[in-house]
Amino acid sequence: MAQIIPVNVFDGVVFGATGDLTQRKLMPALYHRFRDGQIPPDSRIIAAARSKSGTEAFRALTTEGLRRHLPQRSLDEAVLQRFCERIEYVALDGASGEGWEGLTTLLGQHPERIRVFYLATSPDLYGPICRNLQDNKLVSEASRVVLEKPIGHDLRSARAINDEVGKIFAERQIFRIDHFLGKETVQNLMALRFANTIFERLWHADVIDHVQITVAETVGVEGRAGYYDKSGALRDMVQNHLLQLLCLLAMEPPISLDADAVRDEKLKVLRALRPIGAQEAATMIVRGQYGQGVADGRSVASYAKDLGAASRTETFVALKVEVNSWRWAGVPFYLRTGKRLPQKVSEVVVQFRTLPFSIFSRNAGESEPNRLVVRLQPNEGMQLKLMTKDPGPGGLRLRPARLDISFEEAFATRYPDAYERLLMDAVRGNTTLFMRRDEVEAAWRWVEPILQAWEDSPEPPRLYPAGSWGPTAAIALIERDSRTWHESWDDEVIPAAAG
Ligand code: BG6
Repeated sequence: MAQIIPVNVFDGVVFGATGDLTQRKLMPALYHRFRDGQIPPDSRIIAAARSKSGTEAFRALTTEGLRRHLPQRSLDEAVLQRFCERIEYVALDGASGEGWEGLTTLLGQHPERIRVFYLATSPDLYGPICRNLQDNKLVSEASRVVLEKPIGHDLRSARAINDEVGKIFAERQIFRIDHFLGKETVQNLMALRFANTIFERLWHADVIDHVQITVAETVGVEGRAGYYDKSGALRDMVQNHLLQLLCLLAMEPPISLDADAVRDEKLKVLRALRPIGAQEAATMIVRGQYGQGVADGRSVASYAKDLGAASRTETFVALKVEVNSWRWAGVPFYLRTGKRLPQKVSEVVVQFRTLPFSIFSRNAGESEPNRLVVRLQPNEGMQLKLMTKDPGPGGLRLRPARLDISFEEAFATRYPDAYERLLMDAVRGNTTLFMRRDEVEAAWRWVEPILQAWEDSPEPPRLYPAGSWGPTAAIALIERDSRTWHESWDDEVIPAAAG
């Protein structure tokens, strides 16, 4: 049974409160935690943005936003009203320091409270907002600052942000969000590896052939083309989400779940990634950009059309990554992510090696290697492919079967959104599921030569039709190694025997 342990009373200040992230993710997450009694009723949400509107107008905006973004079954009008009463709005300019009196007065009413400053703004405001917090004497011992990704757009800018924020907040007070780490099924990877004896003992190069990580989306760039075009899939998804998944899969067992114990192990993986320079980039990475095609059952425009201009920004990337360590020597990790792919699916595939020797006759059929598929979203679950004896007479014939768990069926529960967990962890001061400074910088250090190689290359990204699995070169990337991408959960369906 899920246990709800209330957090201490807090004041949560959201900068960038009128933005999409606040309305689509943060408010629904806070609403759910409030509804379930995890947020004590005296806590306040102080929304800060430049717009001159007042508290009543902001409450109305939030009410409307919640009605739009919450699933119907979560909406309770009485709770919604009580929740909105906890919201105050202050108009201020995060960069210039104009209009900070309102915030100072509100926070001054409860100087002893935990303060969570959530910066849902563009990263160039992180430094200025923190400086203004300090100048207005708003940073107490019990304050935390939450930074949304991206932390910069390269190593230099990430360091500059970390330096600026680090002058004002201690590392234990800084919560760098990678919302993938807040997903239940991503945390489940740790349970899978470290709460079961059967996997961890097999989790190395002697037994594992390769690993695949796919994070596919059907959406295009929606209303975010301005941000996305400066970012691209490598910065937007690989530098953070996919590398974090890779870390959880490849890290050594931490000595505990303490924040630093876990983050030390992840950092070692990031440092062990085989560097990809200009030469390797040409053979180990495929970048693509969606053209027009059919996605989500309708015909959709190309990226260039969505953007309104020609661009060399990648909306798809596939990579072959290697981890230079005893555990993983010779085991490739194939990563791919993209927009306008055929399905929204995030999954991890651990492909075990083929049998070293078969005692079965040729008539028994091929023995297929074991494969563990962990579905992170949607339809969260796990499948393990095993070889079994085909039942009935006719000699010993082999047939694949699968162990299959659907978490929804097994646990019959709503999966909380990643932000619910992460926001409560920030209030509690638990940084385990947040990125430490050195992790963010190590990830940029690995990604940067790839960005450089692309910048220097005359080749644009390869076009792929929307609704396909990316450029054909991405298929060749893995097939060159005599392996194939795991295309669909249903691949694993084993046909019933005839008769
Ligand atoms: C965000 C990216 O971090 O993650 C988006 O900026 C992407 O481009 C999103 O769509 C995917 O998150 P989720 O939780 O929908 O899988």
